[in-house]
Amino acid sequence: MSLPKRVVLVGPMGAGKSTIGRMLARELGYRFLDSDRIIEERCGANIPWIFDVEGEAGFRQRETAMLDKLSAEPETVLATGGGAVMRAENHPLLKKDSVVIYLRTSIEQQVERTRKDRNRPLLQNDDPEGVLRKLFAIRDPLYTELADIIMFTDRKSPRLVVRQLVNRINPKTPRQQRQVRKEGRNHV
Ligand code: S3P
Repeated sequence: MSLPKRVVLVGPMGAGKSTIGRMLARELGYRFLDSDRIIEERCGANIPWIFDVEGEAGFRQRETAMLDKLSAEPETVLATGGGAVMRAENHPLLKKDSVVIYLRTSIEQQVERTRKDRNRPLLQNDDPEGVLRKLFAIRDPLYTELADIIMFTDRKSPRLVVRQLVNRINPKTPRQQRQVRKEGRNHV
């Protein structure tokens, strides 16, 4: 089995897309791309500033343009922002030549991992947990539909997640291949 041209990580804020993406890229010998960080670099401003000045709509426009650009990059692992699935026009850009991985994470974990973060404008309010719940209800079906692989990340170290992902993406030994079949088409 050969490696896919690209690997794309989707999932909510706090799923670990950047941490796992970086480690997975190293494992596969691919380049790591983080769509939010590249938007910030190109724009010369951070995401809270973009939301403040251009609104969420302005950020989403930049995000679509970036996904379009990055979808042409071979041998890459791409970490996307949690809302990248919200625009239907992004879906073919995420799917293009890629294996899409949904890092599925409980609300509790998302809350825990985003608690001290000031760089996520959607969570700077009195009820970040309520926001995460609402977003999950809307977005989980979209992540699920787009995903080739759904990987649960709760109570797993990033190292374990990466090892399981490498086995799923490119099972080398017959034992690994049997294991993947046993674990089901989409779930680990
Ligand atoms: C967003 C998630 C963020 C970032 C922006 C909006 C969202 O990315 O793109 O703050 O709509 O869920 P992370 O998922 O990397 O935190």
